[in-house]
Amino acid sequence: MKLGVPRETWPGETRVALIPSSIAPLRKAGLEILVEENAGAAAGFTDAAFRDAGAEIAPRASVFSSADILLQVRAVPADLSLLRRGQAVIGFADPLGSPEAIADIARTGASAFSMELMPRITRAQSMDALSSMATIAGYKGVLLAADHLPRMFPMLMTAAGTLTAARVFVVGAGVAGLQAIATSRRLGARVEAYDVRPAVKEQVQSLGGRFVEMSLETADAEDKGGYAKAQDESFYRRQREMMLRVVAGNDVVITTALIPGRKAPTLVTREMVEAMAPGSVVVDLAAERGGNCELTQPDRLVVHNGVSIIGPSNPPALVPNHASQMYAKNITTFLNHLLGKDGAKKDALDLDVSDEITRDTLLTRGGEVVHARVRDLLTNVGAQNR
Ligand code: NAI
Repeated sequence: MKLGVPRETWPGETRVALIPSSIAPLRKAGLEILVEENAGAAAGFTDAAFRDAGAEIAPRASVFSSADILLQVRAVPADLSLLRRGQAVIGFADPLGSPEAIADIARTGASAFSMELMPRITRAQSMDALSSMATIAGYKGVLLAADHLPRMFPMLMTAAGTLTAARVFVVGAGVAGLQAIATSRRLGARVEAYDVRPAVKEQVQSLGGRFVEMSLETADAEDKGGYAKAQDESFYRRQREMMLRVVAGNDVVITTALIPGRKAPTLVTREMVEAMAPGSVVVDLAAERGGNCELTQPDRLVVHNGVSIIGPSNPPALVPNHASQMYAKNITTFLNHLLGKDGAKKDALDLDVSDEITRDTLLTRGGEVVHARVRDLLTNVGAQNR
């Protein structure tokens, strides 16, 4: 069986789905690996390193035409016509945000798997690429904030006087938020955080952050997968009212609040930004999903009343080497799961859909969209267009 690793073509994408050190174990399992020329260049992995590790370097068209399974960061390639029946493609596919793109893949006849839909169960932890990428985003978000803040993060007592520590407020204490808290603390900042899921209070405190209590009713905040549930607009309005004072009192606000499959809730308004001191920074890690800050413009630095608002749409692509290393580990573990103990001898499409991991991630098969949630979304889109 042949694996193909195309170069990513999404604008600004610098990651690659496998790295040279992923190759040897796959070869040992009897798989052949074709890597597109320059696929890893932007992440610091040369063609020579891939070749030395045992991969074959090939032009794009050959990678697509020869591979049984394509491993990508973004599963929906710009050149969809290169996909074919009998082939499988694995990657981030944004199935809940762009279900029409999944229907486009289905029409090629290829089977597609979504890394986003990995169930959050213990068995799938090492395949959970969303968590890996969120870890990187949380770290990088803090560095972007530190870079734009006209102050330092740590408290310093120097011969030239005492510098007070930066104050950081993290909104959303999931994987990215917790990493943002940890990174801010390592740099010496004083950190506060808030999340709708009350369960994270202890995690925030264990990292040395202070959990901001808000008298909001959040008993029904979490679904069975551990994700936040959407709240109604009156909840978000009350949350914004309570956050105004906290936002105004901090030098840096890092927002990470997401609801799977939905636009990110607006939590930081123009009024709140105007209440911040000039020089303060907002880093909106939800920019790709519409942003948590009303003033965010993806990938543009917005300066409003002296406050910088940064909304990187793809923070892991700003740390492509480690992001690719983590992603490669997640995707190879998932691949090994799909192939099972028969490894390369197995037909990639001979899937055990009774398995939760396979069933939850499988989007298309035999020319059809097979994922129930994505099918529902497509039906709704179809109804709206009629
Ligand atoms: P996410 O990226 O979907 O959302 C980020 C955070 O924003 C979440 O903590 C969410 O509660 C929070 N949020 C949503 N609306 C908010 C609002 N209005 N105000 C403040 N915060 C808001 O979530 P992420 O980070 O991917 O994971 C969430 C949780 O899932 C983790 O903390 C963990 O408990 C669980 N998890 C479980 C895993 C496993 O079992 N294998 C792996 C990773 C995470």
